[in-house]
Amino acid sequence: MIAARTRFAPLQRLLHWLMAACILAMLFIGVGMVSTIAPKYLTLVSIHKPLGATILVLALVRLGARLRYGAPPLPADLPEPLKLGAHLSHYALYALMIAMPLIGWGMLSAADYPVVLYGGLHLPPILPHSASLHALLWSAHFYLAFLFFALILLHLAAALYHALVRRDGVFQSMASASLD
Ligand code: HEM
Repeated sequence: MIAARTRFAPLQRLLHWLMAACILAMLFIGVGMVSTIAPKYLTLVSIHKPLGATILVLALVRLGARLRYGAPPLPADLPEPLKLGAHLSHYALYALMIAMPLIGWGMLSAADYPVVLYGGLHLPPILPHSASLHALLWSAHFYLAFLFFALILLHLAAALYHALVRRDGVFQSMASASLD
């Protein structure tokens, strides 16, 4: 019998920590953007757009890696409601990692605003110009950012619960630096 894996694949672990840094930076940059009209607003926007596009690409690669490599099983003695909560929250995190950049891109397209990335590269619009669509997507982007933040805090609490209270190997499954 083949033993079940105890760790995520190295590519999955690399993407997890790289994306955690990018997403946390992105959330704080977003909060900075909505709370200032000072000249630094433009600097924050010029980081926010390319970083969002990078997160979208990394999220799609990560989803591909997840479908290809799967995930180690959760401990058999973890209560069923916690297993369900872990699975549902992971689905929601994947959905938000992909949806947030797409909503941002759609929102700028609806405003007929250029999406400029590194080196002046322009992304094409993905939605038609529409003021009402722009308003709707702006609200979605704003409120989903709070949901994303709340989920990340919950996720952090769950990770610490596994690492410090249960000590059941779940934290190591994502935190291990081993190359296998
Ligand atoms: C922006 C921040 C973060 C995001 C978006 C995020 C997202 C995710 C997602 C989607 C998974 C599921 C992986 C999969 O099934 O393919 C996961 C697993 C995991 N994350 Fe995070 N994460 C973040 C930050 C953190 C932090 C700060 C920690 C620890 C301090 C952490 C610890 C873990 C652990 C231990 C797992 C494995 C859990 C399991 O298999 O049930 N994450 N993360």
